[in-house]
Amino acid sequence: MYLITLDSETDFDGWRKAARTLALHQVAPTDVTWGVQGQTEPLAPGLSEAPSLPPIETESTFSVPANFIELAHLAILHRDGERFALLYRLLWRLKADHDLLETMSDPDVVQAAAMAGSVHRDAQRMRDLVRFREIGREQKAHYAAWFEPEHHIVQFVAPFFARRYADMPWSILTPDVCAHWDGHAISFTPGISQTEMPAPGRLEETWRRHFRPKALHEDTSKQRRRNLQEGSILEPLLADAERWTGGRISPRPEAVMRRKPATDDLKALREEAAHCRACPLYKDATQTVFGEGPKDATIMLVGEQPGDKEDLAGHPFVGPAGQMLDRALAEAGVDRKKVYVTNAVKHFKFVPRGKIRLHQKPATPEIRACRQWYEREVSAIQPDLIVAMGATAAQSVFGKITPIGKTRGRLIDLPDGRKALVTVHPSYLLRLPDPAAKVLEYQRFVEDLKIAAGLQKKSAHAA
Ligand code: URA
Repeated sequence: MYLITLDSETDFDGWRKAARTLALHQVAPTDVTWGVQGQTEPLAPGLSEAPSLPPIETESTFSVPANFIELAHLAILHRDGERFALLYRLLWRLKADHDLLETMSDPDVVQAAAMAGSVHRDAQRMRDLVRFREIGREQKAHYAAWFEPEHHIVQFVAPFFARRYADMPWSILTPDVCAHWDGHAISFTPGISQTEMPAPGRLEETWRRHFRPKALHEDTSKQRRRNLQEGSILEPLLADAERWTGGRISPRPEAVMRRKPATDDLKALREEAAHCRACPLYKDATQTVFGEGPKDATIMLVGEQPGDKEDLAGHPFVGPAGQMLDRALAEAGVDRKKVYVTNAVKHFKFVPRGKIRLHQKPATPEIRACRQWYEREVSAIQPDLIVAMGATAAQSVFGKITPIGKTRGRLIDLPDGRKALVTVHPSYLLRLPDPAAKVLEYQRFVEDLKIAAGLQKKSAHAA
């Protein structure tokens, strides 16, 4: 029997090295016990550490599919203590059956995939729910947030926050580990256990003692609500935080929930799309920006792709193009609250230029890869009218390259019985250099949207 002690809960390299050594020595999974430094029971008689295995011949090796490494990277962050053994068992079995991961009915595959999925969702939850609060205003501003992860994801997700909030120093405090960003590098310190939590009224002092930056925190997770119900010490912390910010702690959990679409279908779609890897754009974008609006919307507006602001906020049309769109919709008499707004491509495509991320037009393979989401949004919403704003949207709506000039401003029948309306993209208006042309083109845009307004009114009467 071999006992392998990993350096930490997230020691993927340690696990990989040990697993490879064990597999090359033909050590069966049942002969290995996995543990983590500081948590492993003292060695029982008969156990020996894996490093005592003879060194591996350099030429002896074996390969595993790339998707196993990807799966293991995520699953190893799961809180279940069995994960190291499960992953070694899978590795062991992959040596004999290279296609094992294709067998979705295999219990080991199912369990590892479920673990990876759970970690993935937890990471997304952290990206969505962490809310920084400014603290220490009398000195240099610092931002802090409290979060309770379900799995060991803090080190995994921290680089996301470093990219997103690159120019503000922040700390994310969790019971496992605390992550800190000083504008240059991420560092980690031990987590704050519940017993270390500051007493009410001494929050600032205690925070200062623990970390240079002081912390306010907020967490809208289920776990926090559970803790609050159980009288967790988070309650006084939040109350204190609320006092400091004049009660402007937002969004409340209820507000977050209200923003979500009402139906399970759309909710499930949005969650699925959050993990979309159908084209490479997900790699550099912050997140999937899915469509938003009421389930019973009769009009669906389709844009090109999220811009810089939308990518950060996670909502479509909230930046300058969105403001232009809002103004035009209001002038045309369309109620945006009753419209479903989405994009042909759900990830931001850009090239970095210093601190700026320069928008790049999506290419046909990206539009095609993303069309599945547009189609599924259409079938969830069942709109009467689809407004394609710009060439990319038109390409998605009609399923082929469609020149705007020839189709603009009139209702077109779609094969499924719906109507389509083609118009320009609001960003086009923003880019026009000539002020007179801008005014004229804006008026044409409003005229196009009035066609949608007419339809919205008709549907309201009919309802
Ligand atoms: N441009 C778009 O096409 N969509 C957005 O969401 C923002 C800008």
